Amino acid sequence: MIIANVVNCLFPFFPRMCLYLVLSVFLSITQAVDRSNFKTCDQSAFCSRQRALKPGQSSYRALLETLELSDSHLTVQLLNNNNKVLLLLELYRLQGNMTRVKINELKPIKPRYEVPDVLITDPPTELMSVVAQDEHRVVLSLGGEDWRLILSAQPFRLDIMEGPQVLLSLNSRGLLAFEQLRIRKDTKSQTDTEEEEEAEEEVDQPGMWEETFKTHTDTKPNGPSSISLDFSLPGVEHVYGIPEHADGLRLKNTDGGDPYRLYNLDVFQYELFNPMALYGAVPVLLSHNTHRTMGLFWLNAAETWVDVSSGQGSSEVPQTDVRWISESGIIDVFIMLGPRPNDVFTQYASLTGTQAFPPLSSLAYHQCRWNYNDQEDVSAVDQGFDEHDIPYDFIWLDIEHTDGKRYFTWDNNKFPQPKDMLQGLLDKRRKMVTIVDPHIKVDSSYKIHTEIRSRGYYIKNKDGGDYEGWCWPGNAGYPDFTNPEMRKWWASMFAYDQYEGSMGNLYTWNDMNEPSVFNGPEVTMHKDALHGPWEHRDIHNLYGFYVQFGRVIMQQSGVRLAGIGAAQIGCILITPLIPADVGGFFKTPSAELLVRWYQAGAYQPFFRAHAHLDTPRREPWLFGPDNTALIREAVRQRYTLLPYWYLQFYHSQRTGQPVMRPLWVEYPEDIATFSIDDEFLIGKDLLVHPVTDEGSSGVTAYLPGNGEVWYDVHTFQRHDGAQNLSIPVTMSSIPVFQRGGSIICRKNRVRRSSSCMENDPYTLYVALDSQGNAEGELYIDDGHTFKHETDKQFIHRRLSFTGNSLSSSDLSPDSQFPTASWVEQVNILGAQKPDAVTLTTTDGGESSVGFEFDPDTAVLTLRKPGVNAGVNWTLHLR
Ligand SMILES: *[C@@H]1O[C@H](CO)[C@@H](O)[C@H](O)[C@H]1NC(C)=O
Ligand SMILES: *[C@@H]1O[C@H](CO)[C@@H](O)[C@H](O)[C@H]1NC(C)=O
Ligand SMILES: *[C@@H]1O[C@H](CO)[C@@H](O)[C@H](O)[C@H]1NC(C)=O
Repeated sequence: MIIANVVNCLFPFFPRMCLYLVLSVFLSITQAVDRSNFKTCDQSAFCSRQRALKPGQSSYRALLETLELSDSHLTVQLLNNNNKVLLLLELYRLQGNMTRVKINELKPIKPRYEVPDVLITDPPTELMSVVAQDEHRVVLSLGGEDWRLILSAQPFRLDIMEGPQVLLSLNSRGLLAFEQLRIRKDTKSQTDTEEEEEAEEEVDQPGMWEETFKTHTDTKPNGPSSISLDFSLPGVEHVYGIPEHADGLRLKNTDGGDPYRLYNLDVFQYELFNPMALYGAVPVLLSHNTHRTMGLFWLNAAETWVDVSSGQGSSEVPQTDVRWISESGIIDVFIMLGPRPNDVFTQYASLTGTQAFPPLSSLAYHQCRWNYNDQEDVSAVDQGFDEHDIPYDFIWLDIEHTDGKRYFTWDNNKFPQPKDMLQGLLDKRRKMVTIVDPHIKVDSSYKIHTEIRSRGYYIKNKDGGDYEGWCWPGNAGYPDFTNPEMRKWWASMFAYDQYEGSMGNLYTWNDMNEPSVFNGPEVTMHKDALHGPWEHRDIHNLYGFYVQFGRVIMQQSGVRLAGIGAAQIGCILITPLIPADVGGFFKTPSAELLVRWYQAGAYQPFFRAHAHLDTPRREPWLFGPDNTALIREAVRQRYTLLPYWYLQFYHSQRTGQPVMRPLWVEYPEDIATFSIDDEFLIGKDLLVHPVTDEGSSGVTAYLPGNGEVWYDVHTFQRHDGAQNLSIPVTMSSIPVFQRGGSIICRKNRVRRSSSCMENDPYTLYVALDSQGNAEGELYIDDGHTFKHETDKQFIHRRLSFTGNSLSSSDLSPDSQFPTASWVEQVNILGAQKPDAVTLTTTDGGESSVGFEFDPDTAVLTLRKPGVNAGVNWTLHLR
């Protein structure tokens, strides 16, 4: 389906990395987006008004006599010298090295939109104290070692300092611009005009009260309302983030081109290396240098543009300037001061929460296409996987499975017995996903529609009637997911007794929630449509967030649903599972590129094949036995690593650290990593450099870390860190390296689905560092319920190799989970040959363990320790 061509990852910050990697495969077969459907900054009235403002002296002055300092925050009024409009600045020092800056009109003629529901709590504040003050400025202490915030009055600016050094400045380029809400001139009364005597007469500019793009006119009853603020980052050359764009990892200068645009759009086909908006928007930008990582979280859901300019600041120090522009709402920005990359992730997670912990099976392989046509087709594809000995966990049904694109229904001819079909999958311990889109067919015989209409849950058009747009079902209404009552009702529709033909192994795919409106402006909703009192303009980038919000509250039968197929969540929240389309949505890759795509997808967080309705079938066995074997091998590699993937998601849910990471996140002082976006880390222990070019005979991978060692996971060959390694490749090569110093648990007996492997034994890969040590973890639970949370039903163990002993100890002694899995084999990479190996367990048992040593690869293999994965044990090498 539509979203699907976006290879989007699971992290709040780095989808662009995956975009680059997989899309470079896509490059040779892609077609350009129809650019004329989408606005440039010049075609967007507020963006061009704001961009016409050039850096210079700010017209704002802080009125220090209005300054008030309370325990939790500081407020001060800002006066615009030109039009005399007053703004209110609020400054908060937040726990965990964060500062929040809010700017709103002091007295707006009506409230401006402030994003609700995204912050998980009112962020706890810390005391700010005045260190120094005169008529020009106020210096506040921000804690830390010697962090200070300097508020300068005329012109207004803020500087965050560490000792004598400026970390970040706000409005230092004078681009704070706040369009106050106003009454349209031709409707103004005499008194209004008199009150404004002192102010300079502001002339209305084109597009302030109405704007036309192609055939669509945006009426703007509230007039201009845009906001803008600039940030300067001295000493910074590298900035990242603000997904989603089909571009390299590192953000580029936007001088002379369009800014990066954040506006959730169903662009269908898109170009690489382009700042155009795509399906989702995460308004978080990261800056990094060898000393510090910082983050800016711009909490605004309206159409937003971000200019980036890196160059030389004053005194020849490199500097990056960033400017955010949004169409409406207020300025509400969180400055996350790090200092380490993981601190910024923790800081962001403390504001928005972490991604949901997905079911283990969702990390396995998914087979999707638009469409699997009927029950026989599903059954044939399912059998095809067994015949070709390729595992899979989920088969997906796109829009064609429904009765005329009426979601929550089945096409009776093609899917007459959905429960039989689901039972057939269940018998093989497999699952299904069906699509449920948020455009509802306007049809008086369709229950979902009549209920939403009679309850008044549809989004309204500007005239107060139900908003209608053209989408897959034809004429459709769009539920107002910002309404909590609507969300509650919607969630109840997923109950097994409401959703006919559903049962425990049926999951849901939320798609098209930009929202996609085929006949709307830029293929989305009119900005003057209404969600209760608010315009769609204000909430646009949150719509998908709210669709997903509706589903998260429905955790049917205690099973973890969140995340599965939560497509194109246009949002600020972190959502773990956003599909990658292995094979590409449009067009037809060569067999070689399809194989390469599987090999890259197998090492990305969400692993799903998908294809457009018009493409030829491309199930993995349709390209000859050699290619089938290559795809089988890639999918099998994914299954063997599921315990590692699951552990990474367990951590991510607890700490907010991304699962897939750019190299610089783990090697923040290694400058060579700062621009690398053709390889990535999974957690911190696996380094992946996929082959993405057709006809490739080799790749060069940078192995990071001075003093680090890396082991090829296929050959066990050992390489030193801080070097460029040339790797010759064949069609079967997937260059992956395990970090020396790590222990990774795999399940090597691959079966037809992850559930079938539940009780299988583990093989441990102990990769020794240069000192001969290694550490890792193992996490086990039932894979799909919340009992790990509610009843402490899980196993979390530390595995540690030091002093020639490998031991397993309990990281969570008060939790319990019965597991039948045991330790089948231990491979120690970079080992020496011992004379004997013994196993001791806590019950005092001691036994000798058979082993083999390969002097060529320096791999020591311990055969069948046979101990249960949930107990304490030690293996001694003597
Ligand atoms: C805050 O910054 C200090 C000083 O750089 C650092 O030591 C500390 O770990 C940081 N705390 C958090 C929660 O990030
Ligand atoms: C690795 O290659 C990159 C890009 O060619 C280069 O900038 C870097 O200096 C090389 N690093 C080493 C350690 O050779
Ligand atoms: C396992 O080791 C942990 C310490 O790592 C200890 O607290 C626990 O009592 C041990 N369990 C048994 C059954 O001996």
